[in-house]
This record gives sequence, structure tokens and C-alpha cells, in this order.
Amino acid sequence: MTNEFPLPVARTVADLRATVRGWRKAGESVGFVPTMGALHEGHLSLIREAKARADRVVASVFVNPKQFAAHEDLGTYPRQEGRDAELLAAEGCDLLFLPSVEEMYPEGAVTSVSVGGPAEGLESDFRPHFFGGVATVVAKLLNQVQADVAVFGDKDYQQLLVVRQMARDLDIPTEIVGAPTARDDEGLALSSRNAYLSPEQRDRAVSLNLALAEAARRAAKGEPIARVEADAAAAILEAGFDKIDYVSIRRADDLKPFEGGVLRGPGRVLAAAWMGKTRLIDNLAV
Ligand code: PAF
Repeated sequence: MTNEFPLPVARTVADLRATVRGWRKAGESVGFVPTMGALHEGHLSLIREAKARADRVVASVFVNPKQFAAHEDLGTYPRQEGRDAELLAAEGCDLLFLPSVEEMYPEGAVTSVSVGGPAEGLESDFRPHFFGGVATVVAKLLNQVQADVAVFGDKDYQQLLVVRQMARDLDIPTEIVGAPTARDDEGLALSSRNAYLSPEQRDRAVSLNLALAEAARRAAKGEPIARVEADAAAAILEAGFDKIDYVSIRRADDLKPFEGGVLRGPGRVLAAAWMGKTRLIDNLAV
């Protein structure tokens, strides 16, 4: 265990397991929030959700190389371990798991998780490596922590469904819980990547949420989904985004398209768009 931080820190799986074992012996339940650090209010709301559901809470900070393609922002992804530890301590998090890349992927490790179902389409059309990398690291983390409950943000809605499916398929007993997206005063979804935006870009980025809210409203009234998606894409570009990867209204439970091209049951409107070199995603319930 490492002591230079304001809360207990485990850097190895063995240390993590020893602490969790102690809690288990005392009859305490365990909640878990996996993160890649650069923590903001969105992550802290997940910690609070985990605290409401379990006696003890573990947070992990690990920037997972397996979920970045070679051309993506692994090298520049914001890293601020000291500040993350302070924020976690202030929320009453009980343990920070801070493994190295070597601890997570020791030499000779060759096994990975392959995903399907909710992983197909949307993010995977643009980041084909992404969900395999996420599922592999999350499967490892869930096995390492062995929590009763793990909390993921609705902000990464497709990721939440992929993780839930993966846990079900691999018989991982941890309950996977989704928690609402935290937003700033104007509705911009909080994201570690917002740090890449200039103040002026940040102002324009709010339009993503507004366009999705309008799309959700129109789809719920029964307008043809294709038309609603096209209008939302046009509005996002008009408001100052440079490029759109997708704007799509899908079934909320499995992210498949609605048959008949109109809303039938719970849906989700999801989008990914570029502001300069920054890729932002957001989604809303329909
Ligand atoms: O959502 C994230 O921050 C990451 O994808 C996760 C779940 C921590 C896996 O690296």
C-alpha cells in the first residue's frame, strides 16, 4: 500500500485483494467505480452512487492502452493522480486502485474479451478496437475487485450496455448499475476530454445536448426517425461542430434500430461529433 496520498492506495492486485478481503471478513459490502482518472463531478456522482449502495467503495484510475487506437489520444489523455486522489478522499472513497500498465497487462498476457450485440455499430463503426479493449480491462477489474456492485455512467451508454452484456455472458456476479449523466449549468455532458476544448469551443459544444433534446422530443411525437436524425445532424453542424460521426435513435435495451422507422417503446438518441480535434459523445433517453 502507498501512503503519499490522502486515502489508501493499492498499486497491485494482491494489495487490492488483501484490503477487500478484510472488508469482506468484517461483513461489509463493496462498491466499485472504474475510471481513467482526470476526475470531474461526473465521476464523483458515480462514487456517491456506489457509496449509497455499498459499505465500502473502491475507485480505479487506469488509462487503459487497449481501448485507444494508435492514432488516438493515449499519450495526451489528461493524467492528474494527486488531484484525483484528493477528490476521491473528499467523497469518502475507501480505496484507490492505481495499477501500472505492467500490473494490468504483465508480459505474456495474451487473452482478450471479444464483444458483440450492443457493441455492434455506433462507436464501433468509428473506433473498432474500443469495446474489445474496454471489455477486457473491465472484466479484469471486476475479477480483481470482486465488488457487489459496479457503477458506470449513462454518459457512455453503449459502453454501459456492453459491460452489462459482458458481465452476464462471463458469469461475473457483480451487479452493473448505470448512473445519470452529470452536466454543466448549460447542459454540456461532463467529460475528461472537455479539457481539450477552448472556452469558445466549450460554448459551442452545448449545442450537442440541445440538438439531442430536440431530436428526442420529435421522435417521441412519432416523427420518422430518419428525418429527425438528419435534422439533428444539420443542427449540430450549424451550431459549430466540424464533423459528425453519427446521430442515431435506437432501441434503449439493445441499441438496434426501430423497425418501421418510428419510435416503438423506449429509445435512446446517441451522437458523436468533432469540435476541432476533440471528439465528444452524448446521449439522452427518448
Ligand atoms: O469509461 C471509462 O472511463 C473507461 O472506458 C473504463 C470503463 C474505466 C474502462 O477503461
